[in-house]
Amino acid sequence: MNIKEELLRLATFAMNNAYAPYSKYFVGATIYSVEGKFYYSCNVENVSFPCGTCAEAGAISSMISNGDKKISAILITSSGKELVYPCGACLQRIQEFATDDTLIYLANNNEIIKTYFLKDLLPQQFSPKEF
Ligand code: THU
Repeated sequence: MNIKEELLRLATFAMNNAYAPYSKYFVGATIYSVEGKFYYSCNVENVSFPCGTCAEAGAISSMISNGDKKISAILITSSGKELVYPCGACLQRIQEFATDDTLIYLANNNEIIKTYFLKDLLPQQFSPKEF
């Protein structure tokens, strides 16, 4: 099994199930954990807009709920014409469970278009050692 292909397949599956009646912007995200499992989710909006959740947040919740601890890679895809970059809040959410080598793949419907390290997208990280 090809990990990148599986990341995209699962993220696309989740994206197609997104609940996004307000923005009509469908997002899917899949994590490949350091422990070697896949976790995926979509955005789930709410009529009370701030209650909506991003696809990345759902995937992280699934990973943590299932006992895995760290993100090896996360792939994000969307229904939009342009690549979806994780929002600022989601970069921080990813950072909480990242390693120095965590990868972020950005994909369209068919393939991975861009690959970054988390530290490329979030170079100065709020992660104080005293906490
Ligand atoms: N969205 C995500 O799921 N992830 C992101 O990183 C950016 C935004 C969702 C939230 C909302 O449901 C829709 O995209 C439009 O903002």
